[in-house]
Amino acid sequence: MKSTSIPSLKNSILIELQQVRQNTWDLLAEIDEPFLFTQAHSDFSPIGWHFGHIAFTEAYWILEHLAKLPSSFKEYHRLFAADGLPKKERQNLPSVAVMKDYLSTVRDRVLNYLASAPIKQQEHLWRWLIQHESQHNETIAILWQLHRQRSNQNSLINSNQLDSFTRPQDLTFEEMIKVDEGEFVMGNNAIEALDNERPAHKIYLNTYWIDRFPVTCKQYSQFMAAGGYQKRHYWSTAGWQWLQQNPVSQPLYWSNSTDWDDHPVCGVSYYEAQAYAKFANKRLPTEAEWEKSALGASSRCNNNRLIGHTSPVNAYPGSSQYGCQDMLGNVWEWTASWFDGYPGFVSYPYPGYSEVYFDGEHKVLKGGSWATGSSGLRTSFRNWYHPHVRQILAGFRCVRD
Ligand code: AVJ
Ligand code: FE
Repeated sequence: MKSTSIPSLKNSILIELQQVRQNTWDLLAEIDEPFLFTQAHSDFSPIGWHFGHIAFTEAYWILEHLAKLPSSFKEYHRLFAADGLPKKERQNLPSVAVMKDYLSTVRDRVLNYLASAPIKQQEHLWRWLIQHESQHNETIAILWQLHRQRSNQNSLINSNQLDSFTRPQDLTFEEMIKVDEGEFVMGNNAIEALDNERPAHKIYLNTYWIDRFPVTCKQYSQFMAAGGYQKRHYWSTAGWQWLQQNPVSQPLYWSNSTDWDDHPVCGVSYYEAQAYAKFANKRLPTEAEWEKSALGASSRCNNNRLIGHTSPVNAYPGSSQYGCQDMLGNVWEWTASWFDGYPGFVSYPYPGYSEVYFDGEHKVLKGGSWATGSSGLRTSFRNWYHPHVRQILAGFRCVRD
């Protein structure tokens, strides 16, 4: 058994707390101030709210729950608690200076407590907290991109950085990989695994074939050119209904430039992914199919806002043990599975984290995006959104029996 000494465990927690916080400060410095205070989309809180919510969550779980300190900043509880105000009432925020002070004051007290904290018993909660901040940073990055995209449509690509990739030229993005029937271990019992990843359990799957790469913009453009957005028979009943109410004809993050041909399609709802799969005579993978094909995937990938947008699907050579590429990073991938607890699920640290979303209305997304922090990059990680959501950095790949 592997054992970690207390000082090095504390040190690794400290380093991760500081890394994710640096990311938070970078985002706060980058974002034009007026954007902090307005809602980019009715499904999401204003960007500024997330900064206060990060501080609130850290104060609540570390200072109140673990350190048993009396609650401070009481004036912020209703505003920044996840179950406080409705999203549209979160625009009346303190100034940037006040939110910075809130974040750093809480953090100073937290580090002060960490110095004498019984870290071994508490490691799970600290790791949850690090991932919590990281997840909100991804949401901030998405909302910031949404604002930028509205004001300046074509600012996303940085071709200098893309040219530096050495990309094999002899690949066909149509390739599919056979995954033989058999059992695999789904989920994760490691200390960093969140409640919804637990417990690890065996799953048997029949043989299936899965796309080696996520669906590229070029492939998706064939669906568009074939009248994909006009033809009823590609769409599920719910998908067609959604399309009638939201008459779109291309992904949210779409460019007609051929520079994007080899990038994964990004900014599609579950319904669009499902319609493309029908068009291609394939289907979307279940979460189990996706996770099995992703076993052993390399986390050396397009993540943590390294380049600030998607990369060609063959830009990072690391593959899973089955040979699938780009399983981690670049774009989240829609799966056909509804978000639910695994057998033996136990809510942690509170039911509002995962359990309230086990409502048969959220689809699972896997793999992380170019904006996902490294603390959440693993094949067992589960994200979830309503099938109509397009703002998240999501694409997909397909399977066939
Ligand atoms: C996992 C991204 C769906 O932001 O709604 C943050 C993560 N939960 N704070 C979300 C989360 C509580 C969650 N997602
Ligand atoms: Fe949160």
